[in-house]
Amino acid sequence: MIDLHGRNINKLRISLTEVCNMACTYCVTSLSDHRRIPDELSADHMLRLVRMLKEHAGIEKVRLTGGEPLLYPNLIQVISGIREMGIGNIGMTTNGQLLAKKTKALVEAGLQHVNLSLDSLEPEKFKRLGRVGKLHKTLEGIEECMKFGLRVKVNMVVVKGENEDEIVKMLEYGVRQGVEIRYLELMAMGPLYKKDDFKLVTMHEILERISTRYTVQPVSAEVDSTSLRYGVTGGYFGIIPNNSAPFCSTCSRLRLTSNGQLIGCLSNPAPLSIRHLLEHSDPQEPLQKLVQKSISYKQDAAFTGSPLVMSRIGG
Ligand code: 5AD
Repeated sequence: MIDLHGRNINKLRISLTEVCNMACTYCVTSLSDHRRIPDELSADHMLRLVRMLKEHAGIEKVRLTGGEPLLYPNLIQVISGIREMGIGNIGMTTNGQLLAKKTKALVEAGLQHVNLSLDSLEPEKFKRLGRVGKLHKTLEGIEECMKFGLRVKVNMVVVKGENEDEIVKMLEYGVRQGVEIRYLELMAMGPLYKKDDFKLVTMHEILERISTRYTVQPVSAEVDSTSLRYGVTGGYFGIIPNNSAPFCSTCSRLRLTSNGQLIGCLSNPAPLSIRHLLEHSDPQEPLQKLVQKSISYKQDAAFTGSPLVMSRIGG
């Protein structure tokens, strides 16, 4: 569906559950902030909503997120259901803690690419930033994905005074493993919204650190990509400059929460429920109206912060 700014909104990001098995300090204040909401959609209902969005709103690509999508009981059923409806581009964003043992089943169901969150390569720092979870489990998850031929990207949220000293080390890990590292500028969301002590490391600081060791060449990225891409000898990396160079003007995303609400824009989250359309005999027109309304909330300039917790919407 084309929005008022001419953007083709064809990517759907689904937060399957708000539950997570990590409690990253930039995302929540404690693990208990991630509660399973009582009205989480079943896999059948979620699939019916996705089919409607494909048929009536032009959705062509799906990314499964959370919370932590691997904690959703019927994840395999959701992936194969999405593949069976003819959506050929299915990705997932995960912290990778439960990934290693499930990779084969995920690939067989139709998963094609995975973005893994990995903020540190040092076990203690990994724990400090994530509060729960073990570094080696995420690393094993990455290795399994590579073994099964999934396209893998690693997301590192860079936090001042916490992990900025690992920027180069992470790049070298990525080059060694053949995965693309993407450095995420910190976003003022959830507990960081309107906080004075915002530990931002800017895109320029990230590039500066890498440039002291490597020659960095800008390279092209997909038109509606959120990241700026760069080449170094032996590989590539990306920066998602949420603050320094917002990508709102090319944003092609629509979000669906685990209880069936559409969210058009992270900066302007005005959730609109589409769940009631499950009872509707002819949902096309009401759905199109709700999608239009939801994407009309999209900003055209910059992310301006949000009290929303990322685990409601998965990025
Ligand atoms: N700022 C930047 N990135 C964040 N993520 C979660 N919260 C924030 C934040 N406040 C990241 C996760 C995941 C991706 C979907 O977003 O680590 O990799």
